[in-house]
Amino acid sequence: MSITLNTPEDIEKMRIAGRLASEVLDYITSYIKPGVTTEELDRLCHDYMVNVQGTIPAPLNYAPDGHNPYPKSVCTSVNQVICHGIPNDKPLKNGDMLNIDVTVIKDGYHGDTSRMFYVGEVSPHARRLAKITYECMWLGIDKVKPGAKLGDIGYAIQRHAEAAGYSVVQEFCGHGIGKKFHEEPQVLHYGRPGTGLELKAGMIFTIEPMINQGKRHLRLLADGWTVVTKDRSLSAQWEHTVLVTETGHEILTQSDGTPTKPVFK
Ligand code: MF3
Ligand code: CO
Ligand code: CO
Repeated sequence: MSITLNTPEDIEKMRIAGRLASEVLDYITSYIKPGVTTEELDRLCHDYMVNVQGTIPAPLNYAPDGHNPYPKSVCTSVNQVICHGIPNDKPLKNGDMLNIDVTVIKDGYHGDTSRMFYVGEVSPHARRLAKITYECMWLGIDKVKPGAKLGDIGYAIQRHAEAAGYSVVQEFCGHGIGKKFHEEPQVLHYGRPGTGLELKAGMIFTIEPMINQGKRHLRLLADGWTVVTKDRSLSAQWEHTVLVTETGHEILTQSDGTPTKPVFK
């Protein structure tokens, strides 16, 4: 088992896959409003990927060890759903918050990214959770450079989440990505600075913190995929795919609609 160090040719293909994944999120944004179902959003994303982009939706029929095949093309995680929510026929309602997680395959390479979206008017406490989680992802990204350790990323995320009164989900993590959807290393969203794997130029992995308003504990629903907070508190997540460069990092999942980097005050 080893960690892929990507060649310039790999990197160029990962840039393309990353941008395409992000463009699916750009495309779907205007459809997110009260009354739409997550199944409709899934269908729109699916058709855009397959018919417009010529990409393959990586989640569809994805069946890692011990899982039944994932039945849809994107993940839609609403309110207390932490991750891997399966699109369904329930209409979204005013005040809901959701994560849409898109992974495309283009030319054999994966791009993986997710954003939070608001349905109509969302409460200030829910918006605060989404904002802090976005900052957590960015604080993690900011640590990425050759010579840094994975623990530096985890620590930066955990510290910011806990200072805000939130908790970090521990059972799911970021991951190496490339020709495979999920590969080494595991990128934990908690940890201690100066510990863990040393980053090297050419590594590509995701940073995708899941932050709960209440306790960190979770429950898996009977569908075998949907992960919810045990205490039913809200949960938020953001995800980018990141390349370690010689001097720092490059975010691969960027497009015209990518939200800008937060300003920390
Ligand atoms: N995109 C998710 C991630 O960030 C994985 C989804 S797997 C699925 O790693 F099967 F649920 F789609
Ligand atoms: Co991922
Ligand atoms: Co993802």
